[in-house]
Amino acid sequence: MARATQDYQTVKILGIETSCDETSAAVVEETGDAAKPWAIRSNVIASQVPIHREWGGVVPELASRQHIRDICGVVERALEDAHTSWRDLGAVAVTQGPGLVGSLLVGVSFAKAAAVAAGLPLVAVHHLAGHIESLVLQNGEMPLPAVVLVVSGGHTSLFLVARRGEYALLSRTRDDAAGEAYDKVAKLLGLGYPGGPVIDRLARGGNDRAIQLPTTRLTHADRNAPGLKGDLDFSFSGLKTAVLRHVRARGSNVAQGVHAASGVAQGFSPAFSDQEVADICATFQRVVVTALIERLFDAARRYQAKSIGVAGGVSANSRLRAELQERGARREIPTFLPSLQLSTDNAAMIAAAGLRRFRAGEVAPLDLNAYASLPL
Ligand code: KG4
Ligand code: ZN
Repeated sequence: MARATQDYQTVKILGIETSCDETSAAVVEETGDAAKPWAIRSNVIASQVPIHREWGGVVPELASRQHIRDICGVVERALEDAHTSWRDLGAVAVTQGPGLVGSLLVGVSFAKAAAVAAGLPLVAVHHLAGHIESLVLQNGEMPLPAVVLVVSGGHTSLFLVARRGEYALLSRTRDDAAGEAYDKVAKLLGLGYPGGPVIDRLARGGNDRAIQLPTTRLTHADRNAPGLKGDLDFSFSGLKTAVLRHVRARGSNVAQGVHAASGVAQGFSPAFSDQEVADICATFQRVVVTALIERLFDAARRYQAKSIGVAGGVSANSRLRAELQERGARREIPTFLPSLQLSTDNAAMIAAAGLRRFRAGEVAPLDLNAYASLPL
């Protein structure tokens, strides 16, 4: 790694992320190396999953209250882990949106107060820009133009990155996000929340052609998004309904109990054997991953991308990671993935995207507000 030159003062930034059900704070520092610009000094994540699991999904009111309880301790811990004091920081970056407004407000209010108290500039970050920059944080700068898929519980969107720090939306899901489909299918199979990790694990023991599930190809432009062509869009609600029909066809109502294969005490449909559940998981996972990979490579071809990336919670998926790397190697196009820790929500990616904006001179005013549906 190249050393920082003397006329280039590297900056340390504090990142804060509270858009959904993780309270996270991180310190990220510039390296002075243009090819791998940022290094993580700390990344503290307080997950609320055990709180929301009981309800089968994120409860916004509980989430915002828990963020309030956790934020001070999480920030203190992030500074401590990074052996950094407020005086060592050059800026504070925070997720402005999109997300749950009550949750976002906790991070935004804290960041504004901290910036004023410490006399630091404030940087507003779009959550999806954070996911995209997690790829650079992990691997170094991507060859441009790059096509990046952000796939999580709230989003399934393709972006073209033609220039560093510029993200052009190419397509998105017309209904459910891929992670949301995982969570809903897991719920109807009684596998608990969140659904992605458990379906991913059970799918490994299943036959991915065991049942008939539809693949959706959208070719027409969406009236709701006249600016987009529409043929790279995603749709997962039909797939989720097909799984629901398959489950209903067996006349099974989800009953309480412990599912042997997953060990999850959240209820399980007794009409299915462990093998049948694994088969449903494997088939569902194949259809989702195929849809994601196909659109991604279609877009890469169309925009003559020099690299490809996948970020967001669903990028932790084992089949998606394996197929992406295999397809990328076959096409001889560099493929980028975050580490497992950087794939789900975390403040290090927000700090990285914050450094990108800070260096571009984009500092936020102190009347910054949270914005639940912030566009990128
Ligand atoms: O990025 P993230 O932490 O939060 C959002 O911004 O939504 O993503 C969480 C989503 C959840 O829907 C979860 O089920 C999914 O990511 N997920 C996975 C896996 N791990 C997490 N989906 C598929 N396979 C996984 N291994
Ligand atoms: Zn996210």
